Amino acid sequence: MQTVHTLTDLRAALRQFPNWALVPTMGNLHAGHLGLIARAQQENVPVVASIFVNRLQFGPNEDFDRYPRTLPRDAELLAGVGCDLLFAPSEAEMYPQPQTFRVLPDAAIAGILDGAARPGHFEGVATVVMKLFQMVRPRYAVFGKKDYQQLLIIRRMVEQFALPIDIIGLDTVRAEDGLALSSRNGYLTPEERAQAPQLQAALRALADDARMATAPEQILLLEQQAMTRLDQLGWTPDYLTLRRRTDLHTPTAQDLHQGVPCVVLGAARLGRTRLIDNLEC
Ligand code: PAJ
Repeated sequence: MQTVHTLTDLRAALRQFPNWALVPTMGNLHAGHLGLIARAQQENVPVVASIFVNRLQFGPNEDFDRYPRTLPRDAELLAGVGCDLLFAPSEAEMYPQPQTFRVLPDAAIAGILDGAARPGHFEGVATVVMKLFQMVRPRYAVFGKKDYQQLLIIRRMVEQFALPIDIIGLDTVRAEDGLALSSRNGYLTPEERAQAPQLQAALRALADDARMATAPEQILLLEQQAMTRLDQLGWTPDYLTLRRRTDLHTPTAQDLHQGVPCVVLGAARLGRTRLIDNLEC
């Protein structure tokens, strides 16, 4: 695997083949990220992974500074699964000037759920992903359903800007006890790690209960009960909610009646660590 750190070297390396699949990451790779590489390889084109901890998508009181940076180990893991090219730019390479031109996703999709809890987050994500797309010009790009709202926003961005890229979503890769793999799991103490699967269990219970519901008011009540239960277990929930898969808005009575495809999404803090997860239902 070749590793490049500059745009000039990236462009030179990309010229070897006409089509590429891109897997954007912030590093500290785990089996979920490697699953994205494996999915990208199924398209029978060479795979480029990017590693860049993107300051633009972190709020002022978030974990940008302590986000784990483990490039040598990440490069070994990528080489081990047959990734072809790694692009790991410095901040000066990615943002040689302050990034004053931004991609602003609309509030209907980016101002709710994680976008409400983390103002500006999805603007930062959309901007860096747009920039990575321009730098790499991939034919395919693979993202995890773990970050469900992010995947939806990127799909919308690609549609609305008519980018010639197929966006592929991959199911969440989990630990044996059901916890969604995440770089942020490393922040958990051993006690918190043992407790962490409760988030996924709460989502599963909410999905099961919500299947019986026929009115949005019932769903709201079930969501509140689910949040209270998680709160009693020592978590601080941001949201636990059932939404339509297409736009992440609350299903109407008619949607429920018609069995519209839904997803339950949750975000909650356990100690200092904010975890997110979701389940399609
Ligand atoms: P990061 O959190 O490193 O995630 C990179 C990709 O891995 C995302 O598409 C994410 O959804 C996926 N992923 C993470 N955990 C996963 C799991 N357990 N199973 C499957 N996929 C998983 O998401 C970002 O970085 C950034 O916002 C980025 C898109 C790179 C822009 O900076």
